[in-house]
Amino acid sequence: MNHIINLTQRPRRNRKSQVIRNLVQETHVLPSQLIYPMFLIEGNNQKIPIVSMPNIYRYSLDLLLEEINECVEVGIKTFAPFPAISDHLKDELATESYQENSLYINAIREIKKQFPDVCLITDVAMDPYSTQGHDGLVRDGKIINDETLEILAKMALAQAQAGADMVAPSDMMDGRVGYLRKTLDNAGFTETSIMAYTAKYASAFYGPFRDALSSAPRFGDKKTYQMNPTNVREAMIEAQLDTEEGADFLMVKPALAYLDVIKTLKDNFDLPIAAYNVSGEYAMVKSASQNGWLDHDRTMTEMLTSIKRAGADVILTYFAKEYATLVKNIK
Ligand code: PBG
Repeated sequence: MNHIINLTQRPRRNRKSQVIRNLVQETHVLPSQLIYPMFLIEGNNQKIPIVSMPNIYRYSLDLLLEEINECVEVGIKTFAPFPAISDHLKDELATESYQENSLYINAIREIKKQFPDVCLITDVAMDPYSTQGHDGLVRDGKIINDETLEILAKMALAQAQAGADMVAPSDMMDGRVGYLRKTLDNAGFTETSIMAYTAKYASAFYGPFRDALSSAPRFGDKKTYQMNPTNVREAMIEAQLDTEEGADFLMVKPALAYLDVIKTLKDNFDLPIAAYNVSGEYAMVKSASQNGWLDHDRTMTEMLTSIKRAGADVILTYFAKEYATLVKNIK
């Protein structure tokens, strides 16, 4: 009896050994393509855990610099710090966000002084500094678009002056990319890049991040400025505007539940696409693997790979250091 069936195509031939599987691997996640978001707090020698984000900490500047140093050694060269601001420094106008000697602006200056070769991406939005916890200026319970732009511009300019390589508006106000581009150019900062949070959705996956910064909105939600999770065509409108207004990167956020949005932008625009693998996506892997329900390293790798496969050129991820350490040890 002949058990051999005549098959011309046997796709399993390309899976028959690890060497061949490596040979035909289509997608690679390199540490050089990862951006590490970090949390900065006041003080000295402070390293405070974030309960909903195991292995991620709020660092005072001295320890943040040490953490950056460790990351650089495993091949992570791009960082996106976010400040946790004391309540007494918050106000309705986010005044603290553009002060020369504030926690964040000082930190930018110091990081670039100690690590001139790293790429530093700074956050432009009002929420960490606002008593209202919203990304824009609030009046009569509404988020006021155009007046917010003036505040965001002061913030971005202060960050550029301190040495930021890229400013990243995460606020979702209309027209902010163009407004920031013009402000930076007029001040001579033509080389400061803009990474636009292009398609940022009003997502439930930001919960742990808001714990980390105590930045949850004090009233309402962010649905009048962040996008409705049901929409992908609207992402095309945002991407078109950000491109015309001078963005250097287009970002999709969150990543995992929005792989189709990443793919759509990748197929239709030629700017590099960034994806933000957000705090809730991180927390899901951590909690399930701590329970023994998922294999941590395999889940992390599969998650990052899927985001790249969908079309992201770069990924902001809290896994950056762990992933880079893992691949370094494999080699
Ligand atoms: C706000 C901002 C948020 C994140 C980055 N910038 C949260 C929000 O919009 O409320 C979330 C990042 C994460 O969840 O990892 N400007």
